[in-house]
Amino acid sequence: MSLSIVILAAGEGSRMCSSLPKVLHPIGGVPMLTRVIETAIKLDPKQIIVVCGHQSEHLQLAMRVFEQEIQWVHQEEQLGTAHALSCALPLCDDDHTILVLYADVALVSHETLEKFLNLSAGNLGVLTSRVPDPTGFGRIVRANNHRIEAIVEHKDASEAVLTIDEINSGIMCARASQFKSWMPRIGQNNQQKEYYLTDVVALSVDDGVPVKGYCVEEFQEVLGVNSLWQLQEQERYYQHRQAKQLCDAGVHVIDANRIRLEAVDCDIARDVVIEPDVCLRGEVRIASGCRIGQGAILENVTLGAKVDIQPYSVLEGVEVAANVSVGPFARLRPGTVLEENSKVGNFVELKKTHLGSGSKVSHLSYLGDSQVGQSVNIGAGTITCNYDGVNKFKTIIEDGAFVGANSSLVAPVNVGAHATVGAGSVIAKNAPGKQLTLARAKQKTIEHWVSPRHVETP
Ligand code: UD1
Ligand code: CA
Repeated sequence: MSLSIVILAAGEGSRMCSSLPKVLHPIGGVPMLTRVIETAIKLDPKQIIVVCGHQSEHLQLAMRVFEQEIQWVHQEEQLGTAHALSCALPLCDDDHTILVLYADVALVSHETLEKFLNLSAGNLGVLTSRVPDPTGFGRIVRANNHRIEAIVEHKDASEAVLTIDEINSGIMCARASQFKSWMPRIGQNNQQKEYYLTDVVALSVDDGVPVKGYCVEEFQEVLGVNSLWQLQEQERYYQHRQAKQLCDAGVHVIDANRIRLEAVDCDIARDVVIEPDVCLRGEVRIASGCRIGQGAILENVTLGAKVDIQPYSVLEGVEVAANVSVGPFARLRPGTVLEENSKVGNFVELKKTHLGSGSKVSHLSYLGDSQVGQSVNIGAGTITCNYDGVNKFKTIIEDGAFVGANSSLVAPVNVGAHATVGAGSVIAKNAPGKQLTLARAKQKTIEHWVSPRHVETP
């Protein structure tokens, strides 16, 4: 049977107390609505309809990458979840199965949804879970024979119903023709004066169409987000789940409660150690034997084997070969390439810089737009002056060169192979290979000088 997916995303999300539309708030760096659309796509449906209303232009702009995959339907006034679904129903063929997803239930997996659809086959399916704290959720009311009889919203629930710990995830499925027959029969006779989608359960029971409940074991997978507090809870659950996957694959995550993965695509080998408070973003590839030190941030980074990223280093758009040491407190910016056995030490910033194998920049330096050969030593405090206020220029430092501490290399400039640059030099012209080049004021001592401190006052 053909599948249509309807994603409800029109609500204001007022309980978030935020100007950003609720469904654009991210979990693991990805907006909740994006996650739900991506999951929907994996189910390979005939159509995906997103119901928008509150700040719809903002939503549509944020989701423009899905232009080909989704259709938008506008819900003028947010009159409730049943009303939201009604807005989408005219677009669905009667014989389609409709899967209703909530944009604020973002972490449900496509595997769970596949099982749920199979189990519901032709009936009204309701995805549920038992939760430790059901406050705020719709409760699943079952008869003595365990059949689902109704869903009662928290605000409408009696004392007895409030004790039920099985909740409605919001996710439902049924044939489009069934939803179409139920919608006109749903009223607003409830605490919130809204059209509740959850009322379809009682209607289905009235019609003699059995309601199939599928109770998900890991309840966090289907929890909705209504507040910033619940958002951070789902964030933590998501991060924990990612950390577990890494551990299962042989990555030593030292503290699963203190890792942040915003990696859209990450490939981490076995025997990699990840210390607490590490953040990985974008595309991250880490080869075997690497250690990622505490507080490091890696975004779009590739590391070869046995790389040591020491604490609090920030790497973005960087390629690192095997056996390299970085940090602590290093900042490597896009376009930086470190070859084997090179070393970047503390308080060093590199931008668009290629560091040859065995070369070292150990302390307090800035190299930008630089090509550094093999076995080069860059002394502490060395700076490339790569920018004249309008243009950027290149610095080339050839193999085996030794640049003394606190030198300024005024680009464009070339330091030849095995050249030595004396400490404190301002190098504005090329320094020839193998020679010592010095460009600093000559030191002199004033003899017979008397310090004012030593002048006797009369
Ligand atoms: C809903 C369910 C509740 C369930 C909970 C699970 C109803 C009546 N209640 O409550 O049983 O336990 O989800 O998370 O369905 N939306 C629209 N248009 C509207 C109203 C809402 O598109 O007019 C969208 C929202 O953007 C949101 C989703 O529907 O993505 C759910 O709405 P929300 O107001 O968050 O419902 P809950 O109170 O959480
Ligand atoms: Ca909700």
